Amino acid sequence: MLTRRDFALRLAGSLAGTEMALAQGAVAPGDVPAGVIWLNANENPEGPPQAAIEAMRSALASSGRYHFQDYREFTAAVAASEGLSPYQVQIGAGSTEVLSIAVQVLTAPDRPLITVEPTFEVPMDLARSLGRPVVRIPLTPPYAADVKRLAAEAARAGGGLIYLCNPNNPTGSVTPKADIAWLAANLPAGAVLLLDEAYFHFGDTADLESGLGFVQQGRDVMVARTFSKIWGMAGLRCGFVCAPPGLLARLSPYRNNVISYPARQAVMAALAEAGKILPDRRARYLKTRRELCEWLTEREVPFIESHANFVMIEVGRDARELIGEMTRRGVAVGRPFPPLLNMMRVSIGTDPDMARFREVFWGVYRG
Ligand SMILES: Cc1ncc(COP(=O)(O)O)c(C=O)c1O
Repeated sequence: MLTRRDFALRLAGSLAGTEMALAQGAVAPGDVPAGVIWLNANENPEGPPQAAIEAMRSALASSGRYHFQDYREFTAAVAASEGLSPYQVQIGAGSTEVLSIAVQVLTAPDRPLITVEPTFEVPMDLARSLGRPVVRIPLTPPYAADVKRLAAEAARAGGGLIYLCNPNNPTGSVTPKADIAWLAANLPAGAVLLLDEAYFHFGDTADLESGLGFVQQGRDVMVARTFSKIWGMAGLRCGFVCAPPGLLARLSPYRNNVISYPARQAVMAALAEAGKILPDRRARYLKTRRELCEWLTEREVPFIESHANFVMIEVGRDARELIGEMTRRGVAVGRPFPPLLNMMRVSIGTDPDMARFREVFWGVYRG
């Protein structure tokens, strides 16, 4: 007979990589209690900035039109926020759209997707579905990318797309800037480096540096960013990729037209206050993350030093058991990330969310 626990384990094992909230918790739908605290998808519990909410309210009545003419200004504003020109930026419905386009265009049956393991699965899952080869290189012991091996694989294949998430999801770890610089300078012919910087704003180490400088230099480097994380607008679906214009020209035919008009207005309003919103949110996040890490350290629970809005905790046994039980007790945490099956990823929530997390985690962890 298939017990509830078996079901949870099977679900967890078979659905890793999907973004469905229930599957992420590795639980049966009936197991999710009302009022569950969602700490499973690295969202920002603060949600959209107030100015963005007001901008969306005013935008609703004009949402009957595409507003094509407004998108030039929009792309320019997003590009300017990163010190780039509009010719170096392509907007997408979330960074998922631009990552997916990069995989479609820059991999082929003889040009692999080359990435680390474990990492954010969307590019790898899409490459596999398209029948493109996927090469995965394990992270080094400090959970950084082995850039020499990534380059060697691209050289062996005669090109391909190197996907590197920095800071990495699910580990929260950083590949040092010297290694990224080496990779950007030593890309084999035909290879493109895609740096996914979804969690860049949460970094707290001098070893983390954006790849935008390489985009400015016109290297074969692309940087993906999103409004889903520190900006708190995951449900609005807006992200972008920065790349030299020649590379962007290859991606742009595949883009999904415009994003929703309320989302466009929300992002414009948020960007206008970036100078206040980003440092404020970052300070709050870093404080809450630090408090969680201190709490874990006091209890001698190992975890990976995090530079993202989540922490990967070593639970000393198959984490899938804990994931299901935590959700049933009202705190949903991240999905399993093979091969780190003894680790559990928790997104940083509000202070009350994290107090509840600590209570439930400690009960389940101690057994
Ligand atoms: C590393 C990474 N990149 C991209 C995304 C996708 O974000 P979005 O499509 O909401 O911009 C996520 C989502 O969790 C992520 O973890």
